[in-house]
Amino acid sequence: MGVTGGIAAYKSLDVLRILQRQGHGVSVVMTHTAERFVGSASFSALSGREVGTHLFGDAEQPGYHHLDVNDGKDIMLVAPASANTISQMASGAASSLLTSCYLAFRGPVVVAPAMNTSMWLHPATARNINTLRADGVHLVEPESGLLADGAVGPGRLAEPNVIVAAVEAVLAGAPSRRDLAGVRVLVSAGGTREPIDAVRYVGNRSSGRMGWALAAAARDRGADVTVVQANVDLPREPGIRYVDAPTAAAMHDSCRAEFPQCDMLIMCAAVADYRPVAAADGKLDKSTADALTVQMERTTDILAELAALRDEQVLVGFAAEHGPAGLERARGKRTRKAVDIVVHNDAAVEGAAFEGPDNVVTIIGPGDAEEALPRMSKRQCAERILDAARPLVHAGTVTA
Ligand code: CTP
Repeated sequence: MGVTGGIAAYKSLDVLRILQRQGHGVSVVMTHTAERFVGSASFSALSGREVGTHLFGDAEQPGYHHLDVNDGKDIMLVAPASANTISQMASGAASSLLTSCYLAFRGPVVVAPAMNTSMWLHPATARNINTLRADGVHLVEPESGLLADGAVGPGRLAEPNVIVAAVEAVLAGAPSRRDLAGVRVLVSAGGTREPIDAVRYVGNRSSGRMGWALAAAARDRGADVTVVQANVDLPREPGIRYVDAPTAAAMHDSCRAEFPQCDMLIMCAAVADYRPVAAADGKLDKSTADALTVQMERTTDILAELAALRDEQVLVGFAAEHGPAGLERARGKRTRKAVDIVVHNDAAVEGAAFEGPDNVVTIIGPGDAEEALPRMSKRQCAERILDAARPLVHAGTVTA
């Protein structure tokens, strides 16, 4: 992992932690400017390895020489990548240990840029980015938001989870696996919010990360992906179409409208099972009553309804259960809702949390198949779910 200078360098510590949690060993190389933002001691303490900062291996830097970079290294990540380092990488300059490693490394490279908006939007940077892309580098686009200099715009380093997901995707060999080419995949993601009044709602803790991972994995495998999303506060991925559906009713309408055009539906959203019968106009005023009862009504079970309407679509549902009896309930859900696959996750298991980067799932179906997976990243879970669903896609649909 290469770290360059910029205020975002502190986020690299999180990237390092997440990569390690997912079982990767990480060796860090820093530029001199990066050391002005975060000390190399932090990276060596966390990684448990020597941090490379100097171009030539010597007594002080015994473990690092740029020509060692291929020894047992699977992937190179540069996060954050400054405008200066990107420019050096694009031109092939070997002026620092980091850029020398880049030139010497023979494996895949992922670059996550971070800089102020004007620098990011400058034609010189755009040219360098295009050069890196043409050289086969995988880019993790910076996000838009408030930057360290107070400006608002694109240039902020992508979130650590997003960077790690990109690394996992490249490691999973995503670009060469196009087994969903021509397949239209519809993914619902996030959690619906059912209004009580103009400013309040009944909601759930779904972050949308699992749906986002499924959509990105399907896209990288060549699928044409639409995401119907409810209240997901994550950066949108390039190459994916998004439809906003914040409530169960909107999710119902959007899924019904999109369903006939899809070959596979993955119903990952946490859709409210009940909604207030009527949302109050304006804002409820607490001075009018000591207690409040909100009358709730059942929402439509979208998955069950679409299963009854299906033509040749493959259907994947989720079952978030709590506790040991949940697996049996999830099996029952698959039969009751007449879907091909149900992905069970036990919210009581550590690491299978709603908001986290990982999940612990059991893939139930198709048929009698059942696969209990160990804890892994949501991206890896997504790949396994697609592996299970892919053989069910109607033979004539896949084009590559
Ligand atoms: N689902 C849906 N429409 C709803 C509610 C849920 O399509 N109104 C979908 C979810 O997206 C998910 C699956 O159905 O794929 C979950 O099934 P559900 O029966 O709602 O299970 P839980 O929400 O886990 O709750 P419960 O155990 O109470 O049934």
